[in-house]
Amino acid sequence: MITARKSIFIKTYGCQMNVYDSARMADVLEPHGYRQVDTPADADLIILNTCHIRDKAVEKVYSELGRLKKIKQAREADGRGSMLIAVAGCVAQAEGEEIQRRAPAVDLVFGPQTYHRLPDMLAEVRRRGKVIDQDFPVEDKFDCLPEESASQGPTAFLTIQEGCDKFCSFCVVPYTRGAEFSRPVAAILAEARRMVIRGTREITLLGQNVNAYCGVAPDGGNWRLGRLIRALAELEGLDRIRYTTSHPQDMDDDLIAVHGDVPTLMPYLHLPVQSGSDRILEAMNRKHTVDSYRRIVDRLREVRPDLALSSDFIVGFPGETDADFVGTLKLVTEVTYAQAYSFKYSARPGTLASVAGKQLPEAVKAERLEALQQLLGAQQMAFNRARLGQTMPVLLDRPGRKAGQLVGRSPWLQAVHVMAPSQLFGSICDATIQDATTNSLAGVLISSPPEMSASAAEQTRAT
Ligand code: SAH
Ligand code: SF4
Ligand code: F3S
Repeated sequence: MITARKSIFIKTYGCQMNVYDSARMADVLEPHGYRQVDTPADADLIILNTCHIRDKAVEKVYSELGRLKKIKQAREADGRGSMLIAVAGCVAQAEGEEIQRRAPAVDLVFGPQTYHRLPDMLAEVRRRGKVIDQDFPVEDKFDCLPEESASQGPTAFLTIQEGCDKFCSFCVVPYTRGAEFSRPVAAILAEARRMVIRGTREITLLGQNVNAYCGVAPDGGNWRLGRLIRALAELEGLDRIRYTTSHPQDMDDDLIAVHGDVPTLMPYLHLPVQSGSDRILEAMNRKHTVDSYRRIVDRLREVRPDLALSSDFIVGFPGETDADFVGTLKLVTEVTYAQAYSFKYSARPGTLASVAGKQLPEAVKAERLEALQQLLGAQQMAFNRARLGQTMPVLLDRPGRKAGQLVGRSPWLQAVHVMAPSQLFGSICDATIQDATTNSLAGVLISSPPEMSASAAEQTRAT
């Protein structure tokens, strides 16, 4: 094994699955002497872990590659040694050859399913120059990955499912990530246990369609997501569970019931709907209607009345009329969201929607996006303001910008700023909310966890 110290800079784009994958790439390279650095200029190896979902996401990657080429040239001209540039993730999977053509400084291109082979790929680059690996290999990469080498912190991601068989007509994910695949229950429980031992208190289960999860269980059967969450809830020290991203079609009865039965499953759900028009939902191949979506939301709120919702929306899908768009605004008004992501439709190569239906002018998309974002922004602000005066448990998971400040997460995934001694990092404390903006809350701590020392408790009261 090569153990000379080398440095690696990883930049991550896109969804949480990429965040998880980047951490695992660092795990794979760590035994080979790679240590992570914060700037590309100091790195022997640069990995851009990329996203292909919209045109803009892809263009960002190419402009970053332009900047990196200059850094690489400057480094080599100064005699500071060579620098390898690698492109990973969904752009790599979708357009490997194109990357080589547009950005010849790139040495290595590999998709989301092969990064367990990174050390071999790097050796091959050194031996014979450029490498492109876009395999969907038969081996399960999770079986080949080393155990996580570092803690992700008090809140962590755990990928349990990958890929997508839904083929929404606008989306590249089924092509970049491949078919749906679920990791076995035992592997997930073991990884969760290791995370908790390292200090993680909140785990977000990840998958492109996480609630399509159907994994082999130790009892020989297949478990769906609800059953898996019930098992995770038994893990001592795991105080909070979340999952994302889910598809309305896969919200089965047991999963809905779990929201009522498992108190550690947080009362916040990202459930993308995309549009409030049945006609558009059908053209999107979403396999649900506005009404079936609304019924799922009602059932979830019945079992968990404090459940807050988040969603994704696309405006300006081909053929979307004013009336269709009004349907979306109406749905948003009826459901009310705590938070949401909304996007202008972006035509993606190889997808059905990019060739069928009438593409809408940019100006119409921009106008609709503005109207939708105003409504969603007002709902987010109202949701946050409704917390004023409430006391809630906050998981303090990162330092704040001000000295003596920590930032945490509310049960509803809001950022909560509090003045708190650093010893409280990683603990769950009660805070009373005193201020609310569209993007965050601020509060004061009113209790300290039992494990906290008397002097730290004293400091908290003083702040
Ligand atoms: N699997 C998830 C989301 C995957 S992508 C789901 O089914 O909901 C995240 C979001 O990006 C999607 O929910 C959608 O709102 C948006 N998106 C995907 N393709 C897009 C496109 N071509 N143009 C604009 N937005 C898109
Ligand atoms: Fe894309 Fe649809 Fe699959 Fe989500 S369900 S990843 S939007 S194809
Ligand atoms: Fe982007 Fe790939 Fe995630 S396209 S949204 S990084 S699955």
